[in-house]
Amino acid sequence: MLQLVYISSAVGTIDVGPVLAVSRRNNGRDSITGLLYADGKRFLQALEGPEDKVEEAFRRIQEDKRHRAMVVLSRRIVADREFGMWEMAARTPDQDGEAFLSRIDQLIARVDPNIRATFEGFARVRRAA
Ligand SMILES: Cc1cc2nc3c(=O)[nH]c(=O)nc-3n(C[C@H](O)[C@H](O)[C@H](O)COP(=O)(O)O)c2cc1C
Repeated sequence: MLQLVYISSAVGTIDVGPVLAVSRRNNGRDSITGLLYADGKRFLQALEGPEDKVEEAFRRIQEDKRHRAMVVLSRRIVADREFGMWEMAARTPDQDGEAFLSRIDQLIARVDPNIRATFEGFARVRRAA
């Protein structure tokens, strides 16, 4: 199973609703799960699933003009899903930052410590931004 984590910047003002809708549909089909943090300016996304499917999805995501300056933070093979079985948990700008932070802590409880630190740090920095 491939686990991929990247960060990127939104281009302009993005409506996250349609991104999530398409992601959930495709990811459900492709057995991809993960976590998307989207606060209107930055994205932090983790994708987990069969290697070929995650690579395919990532190629589509990379070509998406709604974001730019993508940096892959981590790409590793994992024996089991670390981000859990949800299709795409997300924080969107309309949600309360504090509530999301405590939810993030639950969602990433089983994630590798280095990657967990990235998510926690990012969520806290972005809350303050
Ligand atoms: C920040 C961000 C995250 C995305 N995440 C996913 C994803 O997890 N899965 C996915 O299929 N598409 C995702 N997309 C959308 C893809 O870039 C692309 O538009 C979509 O996969 C095309 O699907 P379609 O060919 O079924 O229309 C994401 C787009 C953005 C901007």
